[in-house]
Amino acid sequence: MEKGKFIVLEGIDGSGKSSQMGPLMERLRALGIPCRDTREPTGGPVGSLIRQIFTGRVTADNRVIAALYAADRIDHLVNGVDGLCAAIDQGITVVSDRYYFSSYAYHSVDMDMDWVIQANAVSAGLLRPTLTVFLDVPVETALERIHKNRVVEEIFDREDRLRKTRELYFRAFERLEGVERVAVVDGTGSEDEVARRIWAAVEPCFS
Ligand code: TYD
Repeated sequence: MEKGKFIVLEGIDGSGKSSQMGPLMERLRALGIPCRDTREPTGGPVGSLIRQIFTGRVTADNRVIAALYAADRIDHLVNGVDGLCAAIDQGITVVSDRYYFSSYAYHSVDMDMDWVIQANAVSAGLLRPTLTVFLDVPVETALERIHKNRVVEEIFDREDRLRKTRELYFRAFERLEGVERVAVVDGTGSEDEVARRIWAAVEPCFS
């Protein structure tokens, strides 16, 4: 049986990738392609711990957090209930909102990128995306989409982080050129326009 494809949407916070998951799934379903959507951090046990760190309910060192994401990712792939590797082996196409490039970008802000890549080597060995679609928006657009009425200090802090994360995504794409297949898609404009651009990048995976 032919394996399913693995398509990943990536982007900085406010890039609009989460809202593009639905339209992409609709296109795949319209073509009769068996498919499933998913996201990271997952709703599994490690993903739930990560969400408790977001809310401040649990605290942890940045290196621990990076390792938890790597663990959540392996669990995402191989857990016996809804692991992605089994689904793909059964011919199901999986679309994920974030995968290891999120780790490469977000955790390399305060850690060596090579360490982050190494920490995710098990996942890379198990499942490389057929295609990673990076939804690219200027930091200003991302900020506008995230929040329109917060205090100035917070916006500066956020802007700095968004800028660094965006740069690190591109550094990771360069670092893994020839190893990973990445499409950078313009994420500005209407949701319909962006959906069409994403589909133009994804469609060749199915022909
Ligand atoms: P996400 O659920 O995409 O955020 P949103 O609430 O906007 O839908 O991602 C949650 C956060 O987790 C996001 O800020 C990026 C971060 N993240 C990492 O730091 N490392 C990772 O490996 C992943 C997958 C996400």
